[in-house]
Amino acid sequence: MEQIYQKDSVDSTLTWAKEEAESCLLANRNTVLFLADKQTAGKGRFGRVWDSPAGENVYMTLLLLRPPIEPVNAASLTLVMGLSVAQAVRESAGLLAGIKWPNDVVLAGKKICGILTEMRIGKEKPEYVSIGVGINMNQTDYPPELQDKATSLALQKGGAVCREEVTARVLERFEENYKCFLKTQDLSLLKNEYENLLLNLNQQVRILEKDSESLGIARGITASGELLVEDEKGAVRQILSGEVSVRGLYSYV
Ligand code: BTN
Repeated sequence: MEQIYQKDSVDSTLTWAKEEAESCLLANRNTVLFLADKQTAGKGRFGRVWDSPAGENVYMTLLLLRPPIEPVNAASLTLVMGLSVAQAVRESAGLLAGIKWPNDVVLAGKKICGILTEMRIGKEKPEYVSIGVGINMNQTDYPPELQDKATSLALQKGGAVCREEVTARVLERFEENYKCFLKTQDLSLLKNEYENLLLNLNQQVRILEKDSESLGIARGITASGELLVEDEKGAVRQILSGEVSVRGLYSYV
């Protein structure tokens, strides 16, 4: 990490990183981290709001400048980050976090982390990729509409966790995993570890597409991060993230 920006309050660390990207590019930085204690307009996937109260959780955006990857592979970095968060939670908080494809990190059937990746493409190559990560750390109260779906490390551990320690471990893990990703430009070297932590593996999933819904059994991921889903006739489809939402049969996972 070459530089860390920190603020008490910001609209969204993703927006903030985007605003600073130009000057980071001019300064020839490779990696810059944006951290905020609170977000007033936290962004989630599918245009949702990411609830971001002060003093409890982690809201950060890792800005990778001129990353040596093809734009089509950038979406896989979201999976690399999901894997890194699940590993970090296991190692630093001792909790058995798993992954819900493509990149939610889950404890006890509820979400503890969401990841949203944005990118700006220059002449064929990405100028930057920004990976926004929200981790529910010490929040103990959730609004009624989130109570079934969200939890925090503190709630699962039964006591507060050290935000800095978990965050540092996430970044360490990401650095290692990102190096592996760059070697092959895909997830081949990380696929085993990702599937070990994949809660959907060999479970029934509901694939929610724009105008349709289908059922199948998740069998793993491809090297480019698609979910392999087997239908009742035994045919295996590759599901691209971003286009669909995946649910368990009776629950969120
Ligand atoms: C999701 O919907 O699962 C993705 C949530 C991503 C939230 C994080 S918090 C830090 C960063 N800044 C944002 O505005 N969103 C991401």
